[in-house]
Amino acid sequence: MSKEETPKMSEKEPAVANAGSPLQQEEKNIPEHVAIILDGNGRWAKAQGKPRVFGHKKGAENVQDMLFYAGDIGIKYLTVYVFSTENWNRPGAEVSAIMGMLAQYCRKNVKISMDNNVRCKMIGDRTRLSDEVLDAVTDLERITAANTGMTFTMAINYGGRDEIRRAVKKIAEKVKAGELEPDAVTEALIAENLDTAELPDPDLLIRTCNEQRVSNFLLWQLAYTEFYFTQKAWPEFDREELEKAVAAYSGRTRKFGALKN
Ligand code: IPE
Ligand code: IPE
Ligand code: MG
Repeated sequence: MSKEETPKMSEKEPAVANAGSPLQQEEKNIPEHVAIILDGNGRWAKAQGKPRVFGHKKGAENVQDMLFYAGDIGIKYLTVYVFSTENWNRPGAEVSAIMGMLAQYCRKNVKISMDNNVRCKMIGDRTRLSDEVLDAVTDLERITAANTGMTFTMAINYGGRDEIRRAVKKIAEKVKAGELEPDAVTEALIAENLDTAELPDPDLLIRTCNEQRVSNFLLWQLAYTEFYFTQKAWPEFDREELEKAVAAYSGRTRKFGALKN
C-alpha cells in the first residue's frame, strides 16, 4: 500500500474468507479484542545492517497495515503496545526518534481512521509526553471519537503497574473525600478506573520476535487472555501471520476456571 492510498477496509481482500457477519464470526470464533506486544524492530533492522530506528519506521508502517488486516478479519478492538514506561531507559536519540514517528503517525492516521470509521484511543500516562505527541494523540482521539467501527488503541508511556497505581490513587482519593466506602471497592470499580475502562479484556495477546513475557502490558486485563508467541519480528509480521494467530486462537477452548464438556 503506498503512503498516499487509504483504501477502505471493505475494498481490500478479506483476510479470512466470508469473515464479516457477526454470526459467521461466532462460528469461526474470531477474537473480539486482539492486543499486540510488537517486538523486534531493533533486531530486525540490525539483521540487515540498518540502524534500530529503521526498524521502528518499518514497525510503524506495519501497525498501519495491521489495522486493515484486523478490520478485514472482523476484529473489533485492536490494541498495540507502542511505548512502555520502561522504554524511557533507552538512549535519548532512540526515544526522540520513536516519539517523532508517533506524532507523525497520529497525524497521518486521522484521514485513514475517518475513511474507515475507526475510533482511535490512547492508554498510558499522558503527563510525561511532549506537547507535540500529546497534541497529535488527543487530536486523533477527538476527531475519531464518534466513529463506530473498529476501536484502535495505542499504549503509549504505558505500564500495567503504573495504570493500576493511578487507578488505586483515584479510588483512594474518593474514599478519603468520603465519596466512597471501602466496601464499594469491587473488581468492577477497579476496572472502571483503569485506562481501559471502555474496552473489553483482550481475548488474544500476540507477542512477536521470540520473547515470551508480558513486559508490564495490561497486567489486570490479561487475566484470562489466550497468549500467542511467534518468532517473526514485528516488521515481518504480516496478514498471513495474523491469520495464523487468529486460527490458533479459534482452535482453543477457554474455560475461565469452570469446566467444559
Ligand atoms: C519494539 O521493538 C518497539 C518498542 C519497544 C518501542 P524493540 O525496539 O524492542 O526491538 P528489539 O526487541 O530491541 O529488537
Ligand atoms: C515491550 O517491548 C514494550 C513495547 C513493545 C512497547 P520491550 O522490548 O521494551 O520489552 P523487553 O525489555 O524485551 O521486556
Ligand atoms: Mg524489544
